[in-house]
Amino acid sequence: MTVTVRFLPDDVTITAEAGEPMLAVAQRAGITIPTGCLMGSCHACEVELGDGTPVCSCISSIPPSSEEVTINLYSDPLW
Ligand code: FES
Repeated sequence: MTVTVRFLPDDVTITAEAGEPMLAVAQRAGITIPTGCLMGSCHACEVELGDGTPVCSCISSIPPSSEEVTINLYSDPLW
């Protein structure tokens, strides 16, 4: 299943396969997501999905969706 993925705030849109690792898709789109542990515990890589759900991108993959998936790399002032 092909999913359209949109990265904010850079507003880069790319197509990906459902289940592809989020970091790999971001890299292909030329987006750098800051990472640390790569194990889902430090939250350095946290991004927000279109519905506002925070996820650790290092352990997440592209969800199957018939609609565009938005991945928001908000910059957390606490970091
Ligand atoms: S890199 Fe540490 S939670 Fe993702």
